[in-house]
Amino acid sequence: MEVIIRPDTARAVRLAARLIADTVKMKPACKLGLATGHTMEAVYAELGRMHCEQKLDFSLVRTFNLDEYIGLAATDPNSYRYYMDQHLFKCINIDVRNTFLPDGMAADEIAEGQRYESLIRDAGGIDLQLLGIGSDGHIGFNEPISSLASRTRAKALTPATYLQNSKYFTPPEAMPKRAFTMGVGTIMDAKRIVMLITGSAKAGIAAKAIEGPVTAMVTGSALQLHPAAVVILDQAAAGMLTQTDYYNWVFANEPEWADYR
Ligand code: F6R
Repeated sequence: MEVIIRPDTARAVRLAARLIADTVKMKPACKLGLATGHTMEAVYAELGRMHCEQKLDFSLVRTFNLDEYIGLAATDPNSYRYYMDQHLFKCINIDVRNTFLPDGMAADEIAEGQRYESLIRDAGGIDLQLLGIGSDGHIGFNEPISSLASRTRAKALTPATYLQNSKYFTPPEAMPKRAFTMGVGTIMDAKRIVMLITGSAKAGIAAKAIEGPVTAMVTGSALQLHPAAVVILDQAAAGMLTQTDYYNWVFANEPEWADYR
């Protein structure tokens, strides 16, 4: 795992977006794993800007989102399909037929998990998986005590996640209490992982995921076992890390990061 701390949120967001853009440039038919949530809005705005101003070409890209609320149709403004259409897909030249999310209305939950796993597998796997982290440490909706080997399935959300996300629903009680999510095992199969964490509210959970023990209690900590995971934080989110001098040293000196400093 590599940890990169940027002085402010804008620079953290720009770095995450650049890593995605560079993947698309290097492999135009790449498969991207995408996340939703507040943190990602700025990343998608930046990718939209790169498409408009630098002609970043998404025409051959395929995307697989981490999760979708159970019981919400694609047309529901609170669905993650709707979020992706609004924040990214309508702003870039992607073919929407190449964009995939679990179907929140699927009648057979077990079959839906298997269908989604097959879709990813048949596409040849995910080249780059973008992640945020929940206030309870989740990646996707892999809540505490999710198996670190789990695959795409239906998952009951925690009260912490309900608190984190219900503020985006009107009324808040309209938020579903269950979701389909890629499993931790599904996420760990991605060739590269980029996690973005911003804001002081995430400082405690960021420190647990990055420097704490690998544990199903904080599924984000599984990234410690991934061979190519990068965690990008702004200064505020990095506030409780203990090894910041080392992380900054690596970013300042490793040739891999020369073009990104
Ligand atoms: C959403 C997802 C979640 C979010 C996490 C952080 O697709 O996978 O794990 O990344 O809940 O959400 P925000 O950015 O809203 O704090």
